[in-house]
Amino acid sequence: MSRAVELVKDVYWVGVVDWDLRYFHGYSLSTHRGTTYNAYLVCGEKTALVDTVFTPFAGELLQKISDVVDPSRIDYVVSNHVEVDHSGALPAVMEQCPQAQVLCSKRGLEGLKKNYYRDWDFRVVKTGDELSLGNKTLSFLEAPMLHWPDSMFTYLKEEALLMPNDAFGQHFASSARFDDEVDLHEVVEEAEKYYANILYPFSRLVLKKLEEVQKLGLEIKMIAPSHGIIWRQEPEIIIDAYRSWASGEARPKVVLAYDTMWGSTEQMARSILEGLVEGGVEVQMRRVPLSDANDIIKELLNAGGILVGSSTIHRNLLPTVAPLLEELTDLKPVGKIGAAFGSSGWNGGAVEKIEKQLSAAGIEIAQEGLDIRWVPDESEQKRCFEFGREFAEKVLARVSSEA
Ligand code: FEO
Repeated sequence: MSRAVELVKDVYWVGVVDWDLRYFHGYSLSTHRGTTYNAYLVCGEKTALVDTVFTPFAGELLQKISDVVDPSRIDYVVSNHVEVDHSGALPAVMEQCPQAQVLCSKRGLEGLKKNYYRDWDFRVVKTGDELSLGNKTLSFLEAPMLHWPDSMFTYLKEEALLMPNDAFGQHFASSARFDDEVDLHEVVEEAEKYYANILYPFSRLVLKKLEEVQKLGLEIKMIAPSHGIIWRQEPEIIIDAYRSWASGEARPKVVLAYDTMWGSTEQMARSILEGLVEGGVEVQMRRVPLSDANDIIKELLNAGGILVGSSTIHRNLLPTVAPLLEELTDLKPVGKIGAAFGSSGWNGGAVEKIEKQLSAAGIEIAQEGLDIRWVPDESEQKRCFEFGREFAEKVLARVSSEA
């Protein structure tokens, strides 16, 4: 079992590493690198625990707290977010320190009461409220819908340490705790995946929150999220990345996602790929049922556009492609263009359905879809090539207009 780790003087990571997690909280988020549930112990004249951990790890959390202080001496527990990966161990903690006050947002109070049915000494806090620990001060910043209505950030003023719960987090299990101890590319990749699959729909709020933090003049020396690695070397890296992702900034890159029934749509995809490459963009091609939808969505985060292909079945798209489009509809990727293609037999349908769903996801249909009957012949393969080249031009125009 890992031990408590000091972040700055008298502030400790007391979280746990969940090495084996491969599928996160039921709504389709693959976690190839496991995760951590981070909780932080702030020891001033009074002691505060900021967040807890997922329920099955309560014993490990208490053990780590005991490395530093007797859990019965905790005066305050701050619950930044109700979701059980952060509040699940709260009942076990409160058994050790029943006198402790539980601080949360107004919506957090509703959630904690409805999850645990306990009569703890709750205190609702809002943006700007402070909690003095004697020689240390915690302040609070509500962050509704980043990513739940109750979400809140806690800030340790004396150390300029931001504890923003899920925001800026990554599902990344490691024996290391800090950004300067790991391969940063791997961490950023997981942060991208986290953003694309969890925070995408709230991008407008992310930008507003970043603006608010800037206006408050909040100095940030360290960001300690509730999942993954702590940003202490250059916290600006993840702040700038969030600004870029939330703004829909993109590279000259296209995601080409498809499935095929008897190989014709695949032939189309390969000709389109050649056209895209000829047009000067990087392509990430994925056959949807052989890929992880969360990884495809992560690839879209810094791409300018997406092409989706499917054979037609029952005047509809293949059921293997539909879930990806449904997820995109929920996530509403920012600033992307798209188009559809596919092979059909005696009648079409898939292309039209894909376009409808891309539009519902807020993706601008950049060109007419390409529906080819049966097996594409040579001239139709050329049409596919041109389809890809034309789309590449549009992506390049979009990307350069943003630069
Ligand atoms: Fe990490 Fe929203 O829970």
